[in-house]
Parts: sequence; C-alpha cells; structure tokens
Amino acid sequence: MQDRNEYKQRVLISEKQIRESVQVMGQRIAADYGEEPLTIIGCLKGSFIFMADLVRAIPRSLHIDFIEVSSYGNDLSSSGNVRIVKDFKHPVQDSHVLIVEDIVDTGLTFDFLFEHIQLKKPASLEIAALLVRSTVDLQKRPVKYHGFTIGEEFVVGYGLDAAGLYRNLDHVAVFEQ
Ligand code: IMP
Repeated sequence: MQDRNEYKQRVLISEKQIRESVQVMGQRIAADYGEEPLTIIGCLKGSFIFMADLVRAIPRSLHIDFIEVSSYGNDLSSSGNVRIVKDFKHPVQDSHVLIVEDIVDTGLTFDFLFEHIQLKKPASLEIAALLVRSTVDLQKRPVKYHGFTIGEEFVVGYGLDAAGLYRNLDHVAVFEQ
C-alpha cells in the first residue's frame, strides 16, 4: 500500500495559514450575504475538507449540497472534459448560491459549474476557492473569495489528491515524486 510518507513533502501552505484564511473568508461571506437565503454547493471530491471548515466558519443558517464533477481521471493533468458524476439536488431558484472549489486551475470546472447552476436561476452565483493559480484571469473568471494564489506546482492535501491519495493531509504540500 502506498504510504503518505512515500513522496517528498514540501509544505506550501500550513494548517495554521489555512485555518486563519478560512476564518476570514467565512466572516466575509457572512457579512456579504446578511440574512439572505444562501445555498453552498461543494464541488467534490477536492473541496470536502475546505467545505467542512468553511461552512463552520459562517455563523448563520444555510443550505448545503454537493455536486461531483470529474475532469482529471487518475492523471495529474486535466482531460479538458468536465462531466457531472453526481448532481446537486437542492432547489436554488431565487436563492443566493456559493460554489466551493478546492482550486481553480484551468478554469474549465469554474466555467462548467457556472453555466450549469446559472440555468437553475439562482438570485446570485459566486465562487469560493481555497486556491487559485496565478495564471487564472480573474477578470474573465471572477473568483469572489479565494484563500491563496499559487504557481504551477501540483499540490496535494487538505482535500486535493494525486491519483486518489494524500487528500487527508491537514496542509497543502507540493507533490514531488
Ligand atoms: P480546472 O477545471 O482546471 O480549474 O481544475 C479543477 C480541478 O482540477 C480541481 O477542482 C482539482 O480537483 C483538480 N486540480 C487542479 N490542479 C490540481 C493540483 O495541483 N492538485 C490536485 N488537484 C488539482
């Protein structure tokens, strides 16, 4: 069995840095949406830990749902093809919707989710991502809430995987085989 110590680990973002950033983001989201109805949709699988921490940092009632999409398969690079593995169920018409993603990389998932959820006519639609690559054009793809900007390195941990592994790390590390 492959062990989580079998790769060289370079911590990129520590558990403490993540915790602080998520708290700040949660407070901002709470302040921005006030008492308006809010549905938070986590994009699986990569967002599951971020999602769990973020919703607990938003001190108000909200609906929570998940969508699972796939674009990577078991590879380290995107197939360029986003497809729905499991759709969300909660009706979002006239509710504000916040999508939660682990990382906006090429932005293809961002585009896909935006288009897919916009069809359900939410009152508003925004994205919160833990990580955004520096190559993302934020004018074209406005990620309203994001924790950290990273470069081109492939990262694992805090929900992000390499071939299904390392999601359970409590920090974000650069994946070096
Ligand atoms: P995008 O559609 O290219 O923006 O990629 C979105 C998905 O690719 C993310 O939700 C991640 O699951 C995955 N991804 C992109 N970069 C990384 C990485 O460095 N490590 C792990 N997964 C990644």
